[in-house]
Amino acid sequence: SAFNPHEKQLIGDLWHKVDVAHCGGEALSRMLIVYPWKRRYFENFGDISNAQAIMHNEKVQAHGKKVLASFGEAVKHLDSIRAHFANLSKLHCEKFHVDPENFKLLGDIIIIVLAAHYPKDFGLECHAAYQKLVRQVAAALAAEYH
Ligand code: HEM
Repeated sequence: SAFNPHEKQLIGDLWHKVDVAHCGGEALSRMLIVYPWKRRYFENFGDISNAQAIMHNEKVQAHGKKVLASFGEAVKHLDSIRAHFANLSKLHCEKFHVDPENFKLLGDIIIIVLAAHYPKDFGLECHAAYQKLVRQVAAALAAEYH
């Protein structure tokens, strides 16, 4: 396994506290605010022209929740992340045409959001375990690109 029992424990302990809807909406919002050129992937989401519009956009919030819930599936499948995300990788490649560099970027933003919301849990070891997790998820989502 890529994760030892201690890392699995740290990941699981924090994850069961995470407010997926709130943190997911925030992570996607932050990406679209800080990296405005990423907005082009979400042109069908209505007004995402500025920070206020993004933070109040229901489609952004709903999609952020969907993405972080999907990320949460990795927590349940820590030993089979690649297999678990194979179909989603194909979809992002063939249907959504998302540059796979973006998976690393969103992973780093998820780390920031978790650290900001759960500072007591997010110690050094927890951070290290989550950094490993977001990299594994990003690699899995990039794995079926051709
Ligand atoms: C759609 C997961 C990162 C762009 C989706 C869907 C899921 C998902 C579950 C819905 C798939 C479906 O319709 O069946 C994830 C996960 C990510 C991730 C787990 C990383 C942790 C990203 C990033 C971008 C992106 C970084 C772009 C910068 C999209 C787009 C769609 C999509 C454009 C289609 C949205 C629509 O419904 O119009 N993603 N995603 N994803 N994702 Fe991702």
